[in-house]
Amino acid sequence: MARDTSLFSGRPSELIGRQVAGYRIEREIGRGGMAVVYRARDLRLERTVALKLLAPELARNDTFRSRFTHESRTAAAIDHPHIVPVFEAGETDGVLYIAMRYVAGSDLRHLLDREGPLPPGTALRIAAQVASALDAAHEHGLVHRDVKPGNILVARGTDSDHPEHVYLTDFGLTKKSLSLTGFTTVGQFVGTLDYVAPEQISGKPVDARCDVYGFACVVYECLAGHPPFRRDDDMALLWAHQYDEPPPLTEARPDLAAAVDTVFADALAKSPDRRQDSCLAFVAELRAAVAGGTGAGHVPTEVDLRVAGARAEPADAGEPRGRAAAQPSKGRATAEPSSKESAGRVTAEPSRESGRYEPKPPPRWAEPVFRR
Ligand SMILES: Nc1ncnc2c1ncn2[C@@H]1O[C@H](COP(=O)(O)OP(=O)(O)O)[C@@H](O)[C@H]1O
Ligand SMILES: [Mg+2]
Repeated sequence: MARDTSLFSGRPSELIGRQVAGYRIEREIGRGGMAVVYRARDLRLERTVALKLLAPELARNDTFRSRFTHESRTAAAIDHPHIVPVFEAGETDGVLYIAMRYVAGSDLRHLLDREGPLPPGTALRIAAQVASALDAAHEHGLVHRDVKPGNILVARGTDSDHPEHVYLTDFGLTKKSLSLTGFTTVGQFVGTLDYVAPEQISGKPVDARCDVYGFACVVYECLAGHPPFRRDDDMALLWAHQYDEPPPLTEARPDLAAAVDTVFADALAKSPDRRQDSCLAFVAELRAAVAGGTGAGHVPTEVDLRVAGARAEPADAGEPRGRAAAQPSKGRATAEPSSKESAGRVTAEPSRESGRYEPKPPPRWAEPVFRR
């Protein structure tokens, strides 16, 4: 069907102004390996959306189609402040599409390209929001599988205490097994290999812990300015994920306490069993290692409190901890103050983290990274 391909791969100008599945395409926002994203107008509800058109070959892949349908439904059912709301997912003229909230701003890829390594406070603020989104998805039985800076959208926050609001996007849009379907017909990998977990590479079953790995790679990059493994070619990179030790983060960031290296060594462990049990548990350990008693420097958000709830040993601020000590974080869902009403009360509970969350004037590094 010639029309299929024109929808997806036609020059952007060919689609501008056209109607696709009830949306009028306004402009191209960006494109990845498998999709083109447009800003579009929902003609039924008269609102702006981001309309993602997936590559036509994906619609022809039955496994992908059924996962796309199932996982976009699940993602649409998750109502979470840090997950991009999905409005509709479907198929038109042989092309799968997904309509979602248009997030004005940037994505983390562009942000890192522009800013380089982020100050720890900024990195932790962003990380905590992404972690809460991932953990919420995991609680719904959804594994993201493609955590990467391009799938983390950074919008303007509400105020100077919350300079950016971060959204995770693109659930279920990866192919299940890299070994079987992750390569195009010409054998070229679609997407980035910088954040892929060892078990994804070897085609083993994946669970939430593959997202802990990918997420830790992203957070590492936020702090180091580069992902944990840098190799000249894809095969060497795959090998490194499977067999090489990641370089300690403190090599790139000697300003950070050595305790952060232990936290990353666990999160980036080859064996999923050794990793933290949740993304928030990882952020909690990282925050403790980074802060080391110096203070997080901003008024706690609801996510901060969830991170605090994920901590296995609240009294043990700043000390590196082995996996055995962190095991109780498995009970994160019950340990966290998940009540929605707590959101409005966070500033009234500054003593909750014995000083670490006490409101303080914003430090130098609390400069908002959001521009535009
Ligand atoms: N809901 C959205 N709102 C605004 N921009 C978006 C949205 N979803 C994706 N984008 C942007 O569209 C671009 C392409 O996205 P995508 O096709 O998923 O590629 P990738 O994730 O590989 O970067 C990205 O740069 C991203 O910032
Ligand atoms: Mg994406």
